[in-house]
Amino acid sequence: MTTSKRRYHITTFGCQMNKADSERMAGILEDMGFEFSEDPNHADVILYNTCTIRDNAEQKVYSYLGRQAKRKHEQPDLTLVVAGCVAQQEGEALLRRVPELDLVMGPQHANRLKDLLESVFGGNQVVATEPVHIMEDITQPRRDSKVTAWVNVIYGCNERCTYCVVPNVRGVEQSRTPEAIRAEMEELGRQGYKEITLLGQNIDAYGRDLPGSTSEGRHLHTFTDLLYYVHDVPGVERLRFATSHPRYFTERLIKACAELPKVCEHFHIPFQSGDNDVLKAMSRGYTHEKYRRIIDTIRKYMPDASISADAIVGFPGETEAQFENTLKLVEDIGFDQLNTAAYSPRPGTPAALWENQLSEEVKSDRLQRLNHLVAIKAAERSQRYFGRIEEVLVEDQNPKDPTQVMGRTGGNRLTFFTGDINELKGQLVKVKITEVRAFSLTGEPIEVRQALPV
Ligand code: SAH
Ligand code: SF4
Ligand code: F3S
Repeated sequence: MTTSKRRYHITTFGCQMNKADSERMAGILEDMGFEFSEDPNHADVILYNTCTIRDNAEQKVYSYLGRQAKRKHEQPDLTLVVAGCVAQQEGEALLRRVPELDLVMGPQHANRLKDLLESVFGGNQVVATEPVHIMEDITQPRRDSKVTAWVNVIYGCNERCTYCVVPNVRGVEQSRTPEAIRAEMEELGRQGYKEITLLGQNIDAYGRDLPGSTSEGRHLHTFTDLLYYVHDVPGVERLRFATSHPRYFTERLIKACAELPKVCEHFHIPFQSGDNDVLKAMSRGYTHEKYRRIIDTIRKYMPDASISADAIVGFPGETEAQFENTLKLVEDIGFDQLNTAAYSPRPGTPAALWENQLSEEVKSDRLQRLNHLVAIKAAERSQRYFGRIEEVLVEDQNPKDPTQVMGRTGGNRLTFFTGDINELKGQLVKVKITEVRAFSLTGEPIEVRQALPV
């Protein structure tokens, strides 16, 4: 096959925010007439959308980049772009490290990709990392899925957790207006998307930068208000949201989730540590008691809700006893899933400068012990699904078994069952669960839910 179209390749590292940005940048590139190439070696424009949350994430980017920089010597018209959080963190320094780069652009500039590339094609080497007001995007994102979609509701982060680079690289909070969010969701509903995940670093802090407040002094546009405002978008059957911060998680929000049928009973609320002194050193703004109360309240309204979180082990100064408080929290709460990480000192963050850093041995030992407990607890939590009928939104074929399809339950458990993807993609299917594993399920299809007319 020959094609005269120029081709682009994007590799995305990091979180859902980056994935959503990549889909928007891919949309811009297609709008400019580029065609997607799976293989970076066949692309004319290569874009790495990067992550710097931990050192290993950052280092991965440099090894990818090194290879393409070499290629550029044989193919000088190759355009190399570094976007995302490493771009924002390193800025000009990236050009010194990899002089072959054409464009270095921070996450706030994702929507400006067309202008930036035009400047590159005009012969410039461009660095775009200054803080900007994020404009509404007029380009259609090129979404990876036809079934589930992400919608940004708030960009940036105003917290100052002492370990975290995100506020440095993503800038201050910028909430989109409820109208813009709903309009994007309605369009997704019309296109046949069944599930939307609303995105923000601290999604429950949504709206505090928007003008207006109620007579009681509450912001007019809280995340809870947003849920009520968007929950009935036609065609969309499921709503999810991530990530929640315990500091802003209210009972009002919990009630709304219990009351609104499309909101999935799955909550991703990172706790980071189960020890109050560590939480304080992290500047998280809550205690483990408060975290436990939030989970208790969720379970009071939604006894079956699934709970997931993030945790860090080996934060500077963490003692064995403090680490055991994290184990205890995990033991007591019983998470359905937990993303765990060993603390990684990050440039420009306060904790990186402290002298009480722990050794890599201690960190990796604690990480292993925590992961072991997480797997046991997740397997226990999975047991409750055995024999139950769960509704699964079919997303894809099982890559390991083409006679099966896969999707997620409302509680976000990956579920496999026998079926034809061509018939079932995008359908909500009632599935009787016949096998349970720690992080996934297998079942038998019972009934396909009839779609409501859009
Ligand atoms: N806004 C979210 C998390 C965003 S970053 C929140 O506040 O919970 C995603 C996860 O990366 C964090 O929850 C944390 O567990 C982890 N993380 C962030 N900085 C880290 C660091 N320096 N070392 C190890 N893990 C880190
Ligand atoms: Fe990072 Fe804390 Fe902001 Fe989450 S809330 S993104 S951990 S600074
Ligand atoms: Fe990574 Fe940036 Fe997300 S640092 S985790 S891609 S906000």
